[in-house]
This record gives sequence, C-alpha cells and structure tokens, in this order.
Amino acid sequence: MIVLGIETSCDETAAAVVTDEGEVHADKLLSQLAEHAPYGGIVPEIAARTHLEHLDTLIGEAMTESGADFPDLGAVAATGGPGLIGGIIVGVMTAKAIATVAGVPFIAVNHLEGHALTARLTDGLDFPYLALLISGGHCQLLGVEGIGRYRRYGTTIDDAVGEAFDKTAKMLGFGYPGGPEIEQAALTGDPARFVLPRPMRGRPGCDFSFSGLKTAVRHLIADLPIGPEGTVLNQRDTTDLAASFQAAVIETLADRCANAFEAFGRDHPGADVFVLAGGVAANAALRAGLGCIAQAHGFRLIAPPPRLCTDNATMIAWAGVERLRVGLTDGLDFAPRPRWPLDPAAPTAPGAGVKA
Ligand code: KG4
Ligand code: ZN
Repeated sequence: MIVLGIETSCDETAAAVVTDEGEVHADKLLSQLAEHAPYGGIVPEIAARTHLEHLDTLIGEAMTESGADFPDLGAVAATGGPGLIGGIIVGVMTAKAIATVAGVPFIAVNHLEGHALTARLTDGLDFPYLALLISGGHCQLLGVEGIGRYRRYGTTIDDAVGEAFDKTAKMLGFGYPGGPEIEQAALTGDPARFVLPRPMRGRPGCDFSFSGLKTAVRHLIADLPIGPEGTVLNQRDTTDLAASFQAAVIETLADRCANAFEAFGRDHPGADVFVLAGGVAANAALRAGLGCIAQAHGFRLIAPPPRLCTDNATMIAWAGVERLRVGLTDGLDFAPRPRWPLDPAAPTAPGAGVKA
C-alpha cells in the first residue's frame, strides 16, 4: 500500500510517496526561504502563492520517482492544519482533486501528528511514548498513546522555542531561520559569560515560556559597550550570547521535561521512550542535553534524522499510512483548520506559538 503525502502548512512545499512498510519512494521538498528572506520572516500571502506555483510540479516529480500512478495509491494525505490557512487550502484542495480523479480516499493529517508519528517510521516504536515537539510554531509535550490519541502535558504560554531562536538570531544579526546559525556560533562561545533567566524553572507542571528570555537577550545587547567602529556586537559577544542563550533554552526545556517524565511515567508505568520532533530537534547540543536528562529519568531519547525533524511531506504520507491502516479517512467536506489541537481536552493556551 502506498500513500502520497502533501505538506504546505508553512514555508515548505513538499510531496512524498511512502509505503506501509515504511519505505520512502520519493521525498520532494522546496524551501521558500529565498522568497521570504527580504521580509525577515514568513509572509503568508507569498507562502500561499508559492505553494500554488510549485506543488503540481513537486507532486509530478514525486510520483514519477516512485514509479506509481495515481490510481495505485492507497490514499492521498495532505496537511489539514494547523498552520497558515492559505497554504493549507492549496494542499488540501490539490489532494482532494487527486483523490477524486483517482478514486482513492483523502486523508487530512494534523501537521503535529505528522511530527509526532515520524519516530514510528524511523524507529518502529510502539505506543505509548512521550514526545517533545519543538519548532517555529509549536512547543508541546505530548503523550502519544495511539493514532489520533494524544494527551498534552505542557505547551508554551507565549513564544514557541524556534521562534525564540529566530528572534534572538535576528538581534545577533543572523538571517532567518536563525536556529542553525545560533547553534554554529554557540560552538565557539562561552555559555557562562552572560547570565540569562531559565523561565518557569522549578515551577510545577510542564508549560514553557520563552518571551522573557528573548527580552533578557535584548537588554544584554543594549548594555554592551559600543565598539570602536560603532558596532555593538563583536565576534566574541555574538558567539558568547549565542552560547549563553542556547544553554538557557536547553536547561529550561530539560527542567520542564523532567516534570513530564514524572507525569507521563505515572500515567504509563513502564513506558520509557522520549521522542524529539520538530525543526529545533535538529540542534545537536539540545539533543545531547535532553538525552542526559531523559537518561537520568529512565527514558531513552529517540530523535529522527534532522531531514525528517524539519517540515517535510514524508511525515504526512506516513501519518496517512497510519490512519489508513486503522480506517481513518476524511470526506471531501473536510475544512482546512488554521488551529487544530491534537488534544481537544487540553485548555487553550494564550499567546503565540500555540497554533495548536
Ligand atoms: O519544524 P520546522 O521546520 O517548521 C515549523 O513548523 O516551524 O521548524 C523550523 C524552526 C525554526 O524556528 C528554526 O530556527 C528551527 O526550527 N531550527 C533550529 C535548528 N534548525 C532549525 N533551532 C535550533 N537549532 C537548529 N539547529
Ligand atoms: Zn512543523
């Protein structure tokens, strides 16, 4: 059984073909970074138009590479939310059209479910496991109990962690997305030079907060002496700030995860797998730091390769496979959802970074 997956919820246009054996027959991805770079962030209207321009070609290439024809598909899966609505509409309409013409089922996939289930494709995990989803739009601790069965243990009350990386990177003079550049700069920086807060540390529960950390970086930069050429940040300041910021993020996440290990462990005695997912999970220092805290709590950390941590269509096709296996398909009346919580029972959190 093979499934075509389509991802258009943010700034990556992607199409992939995956089998129920977990073989990836095609994985096409087009980043829109160049289109959005002049604006210093993602412009939703440009994103939607760019998806529209390129999606057909990417799907064509993915199908050719896979050697399959549309009627051979078990289903067509597309991200149905959460994310930028214009892009989601492009992906969902395209998937519905293909499904209708080919006479195969359509499946609307929650983007977060795609991230959360990726580790089952890469590592063949069984349910349940604890997952930390960290990206530019999301920051959540989820108990993954089954297909469509998620319990939210924590979420951000303001910024998503990727957003904090991106905004801090901008202050340090880096381009977008800033996470990889901060990670690179931090390699040669001194994480102990600047004192930064660890928001929420020591508090009960598993919620996150990152906006105070970002503000603290801004204040530190404002207090630095102006250099001889009028530049505020020299090379040393930049790398030390990057390292100090990254260390604060890792310690904050570790503290929140420690509480989640306890809570998840009480709900699921014996479960011991901790999955990292989302673009920020590509950060090697963060993987190492969270790996240590996981081990200290009797959990082993599993992180899919960075290519499958950042947005991609393979995870959407795979979530489609998982849903199809248990008979979960959607009607053509499915309406794209800019907000779509994985755990409907969890209270809505305020602020940005909580698209779900
Ligand atoms: O999952 P993703 O590709 O898209 C969203 O759904 O947001 O995640 C993108 C985010 C960006 O904020 C980017 O700065 C961050 O992931 N990111 C990183 C790294 N690579 C990507 N953050 C920290 N370190 C990295 N190496
Ligand atoms: Zn994502």
